[in-house]
Amino acid sequence: MDCKEEWLHGLMQGYWSSDTDEDEVSCNKDNDAPSPEECNKLTRKSARRLERFERSKKWKKMKQKEKQQLKEQQHKQLQHCEEQTDSLTKSDKPTKKEIKDMINAKLDSVQRSETIPKICVDMGLTGFMSEKEIDRLAGQLRRLYGSNRRSPKPLHVTLTNLEPGSLVYQACERKNDGFRNYKVHMTSESHLDMFPLERITYLTPDSETVLTRLEEGRVYILGGLVDESPSKNYTLQMANQWGLTTARLPISEYLQHAGTGSYNKILSINQIFDILLNFYLDGDWTSALLAGIPRRKGFIPK
Ligand SMILES: C[S@@+](CC[C@H](N)C(=O)[O-])C[C@H]1O[C@@H](n2cnc3c(N)ncnc32)[C@H](O)[C@@H]1O
Repeated sequence: MDCKEEWLHGLMQGYWSSDTDEDEVSCNKDNDAPSPEECNKLTRKSARRLERFERSKKWKKMKQKEKQQLKEQQHKQLQHCEEQTDSLTKSDKPTKKEIKDMINAKLDSVQRSETIPKICVDMGLTGFMSEKEIDRLAGQLRRLYGSNRRSPKPLHVTLTNLEPGSLVYQACERKNDGFRNYKVHMTSESHLDMFPLERITYLTPDSETVLTRLEEGRVYILGGLVDESPSKNYTLQMANQWGLTTARLPISEYLQHAGTGSYNKILSINQIFDILLNFYLDGDWTSALLAGIPRRKGFIPK
């Protein structure tokens, strides 16, 4: 399309609509054809708009894919449950309440176990966060707990440095139905006083050590932080101060860049937890990482 045609096309489509910016070209009332210079401006502007439009289209598509991925996962889980109960006659099938009781009993036994790896969320870092971020952390905890309930092989979960009545405790109660009855160990104590320091590994994206396995009887700490800034090293510095072992997830060992994506390796606590759960289930880092890392980050298997 040449410049004039493009201008006419714009007029027809109402494409150059009411909003103006520094490059807006004003045509006179009779809609005279613009000069070549004006045409150039129009072309630049429409190219920028097109680029913005393409970017937002891509973003929407990625979000849709993620939603679809989640739906598929939920559908699979439901199918799995149905398959398990299909062989039973209708009257034998457990009721919702019975299923809930079974899950609670399973989680109770996991929480009593001394051998299952312990995942501990350090809830004492709220001083680094805004109220909005604290609310997001509470939402992430809900997802973390939901994943543990649904898992055929749950992990032991502890929330440390959690003061009843604190801002984060209140946010958790607001964002999580039945938070007080969660089948996790909640305590205002610090993990530093609860566990021998040599049994603790602080998971932090900035560690130089790579996590290779989940060990029985070991405690893995997740920083209860909603902060995706790569340079802050908060948890690494803290862990070093306390003399704790640290480790990062083996993302670059098992995955590579797909071509487009943010490639950000800093994940939220529920994403990290999902990866650990999946790895604990079948010992496969590639599939565990792919299941937990959102597609928009742009990783594919090596
Ligand atoms: C949103 S991140 C917070 C990042 C923050 N800048 C820091 O210094 O930890 C929340 C927590 O998830 C865990 N985490 C996130 N990405 C990780 C990775 N790639 N490897 C290991 N742990 C990770 C860490 O425990 C981290 O504290």
